[in-house]
Amino acid sequence: MKKISVIGVGYVGLVTAACFSDLGNHVTALDVNEERVAGLKRGEMPIYEPGLEELVNRNVQAGRLHFTTSYPEALKESEFIFICVGTPSGGDGEADLKYVESAARSIAEHMQAPAVVVNKSTVPVGTGDFVADIIRKAQPKPVDFWVVSCPEFLREGAAITDFMNPHRTVLGSLHREAADKVAQLHLPLRAPIVITDLRTAEMIKYASNAFLATKISFINEIADVCESLGADVKEVAAGMGFDTRIGKQFLEAGLGYGGSCFPKDVKALAYMAEEMGHEPRILNSVMEVNGRRRELAVRRLEQALGGLQGRRIGLLGLAFKANTDDMREAPSIDIAEALLAAGAQVRAFDPVAMPAAAELLPKVEMAQDAYDLAEGCDAILVVTEWNEFKNLDMGRVRESMKTPVIVDGRNLYQPQVMRNMGFDYYGIGRGYNENGIIETEIEVRPHAA
Ligand code: UDX
Ligand code: UDX
Repeated sequence: MKKISVIGVGYVGLVTAACFSDLGNHVTALDVNEERVAGLKRGEMPIYEPGLEELVNRNVQAGRLHFTTSYPEALKESEFIFICVGTPSGGDGEADLKYVESAARSIAEHMQAPAVVVNKSTVPVGTGDFVADIIRKAQPKPVDFWVVSCPEFLREGAAITDFMNPHRTVLGSLHREAADKVAQLHLPLRAPIVITDLRTAEMIKYASNAFLATKISFINEIADVCESLGADVKEVAAGMGFDTRIGKQFLEAGLGYGGSCFPKDVKALAYMAEEMGHEPRILNSVMEVNGRRRELAVRRLEQALGGLQGRRIGLLGLAFKANTDDMREAPSIDIAEALLAAGAQVRAFDPVAMPAAAELLPKVEMAQDAYDLAEGCDAILVVTEWNEFKNLDMGRVRESMKTPVIVDGRNLYQPQVMRNMGFDYYGIGRGYNENGIIETEIEVRPHAA
């Protein structure tokens, strides 16, 4: 059992604190946001993450997990101090490190005993040295510390699963013994542990996220070509994915990526490259292709309806992806704003993200459920791939709509089935040609036993 402090209880920090306490460690988690800490003490979660509420409250009850706004309390007897504060994009794409700097300074001022300072926030290559400098200069009296980079690979909506079952743990440090100590913390996860230097660990994080974002923009580009050539991108992706060099995941064409990670991490990596005199051609294309996905959805609606002025459009889903309430860089924001600017009336339904979205999209009416959303709509755009949208009573949806136009931004539905039900169905890359939609049923025969 180790004593761990976690600084910043957002999407990353709260999951990190809860999971380490569930592994039997004693964790004190700090946040500067007093309402957030007060809420957590009452058992209220500041974010939606499946399984988090039960995990947090069980470990608080067991006395392994505590929340505070006081650094002296948070750092008392800590052997490990995890920095999990936000690293938002600055204006030109560079990661803004003001929160990391503030946390490092507070750690320096209040740490009472030697500790390993672990950077979990996604930080630009070289930040590990930056954090060490800040701590060294801000300490009122020298206290031994070692900085280790331990980037997070958590997907929102699956963060607990991803923490407890990582593909790998990456550790970077200039001090091997410090990295070994952090490796010990992760042994119960029984996953490969990559130990390298600080800068390499920081780059592994950026390169991993940038590659995943590249896969998404790649399949989105292929989708556009499929549409013109009459192929079905869902089945192209399925056929590609059997090649283990390509892999099945992150080949879902749609409205592109959003969230608090891919957009900022690809931008930050491109910025770092340019700062070093390199032209990040691929990364710039990844961002450019991704940015156009929102316009594509609006254009598809405009084509289907013959114009947007005065039309009533329903957005099915608002969060940047399913199983989260996170609206950061959600495609729904750009799409809703473009539709409103074109004179359309916009309604929306999301099982979880409507409270967060209401502040960002005050002119969007929020519906009670998917059927209420469909009421009187000229068209529905599927924005987020929530499971509950996959088995709606589409007959009831069609009856509620003024005109049965569906633009399926996440390819949840089967084109032929929807057309047979009387919908004017538009998917993303689903094999359009002049005769409408080609439906091919891909058949996968498992190899003979
Ligand atoms: C963020 C990024 O999204 C992620 O890519 C990066 O790896 C880690 O930082 P996230 O948990 O999403 O992760 O950030 P956020 O949800 O904004 O939470 C950060 C928390 O830190 C907030 O609760 C904020 O109040 C707190 N904070 C911020 C501090 O406790 N101290 C500070 O000085 C600044
Ligand atoms: C991502 C990385 O997966 C995770 O490892 C890292 O730590 C943080 O960033 P996250 O942003 O939470 O996690 O969600 P993810 O599931 O990766 O989806 C990111 C975005 O890509 C979402 O907007 C999603 O809709 C989109 N996406 C994902 C696609 O458009 N197509 C896909 O095939 C997969």
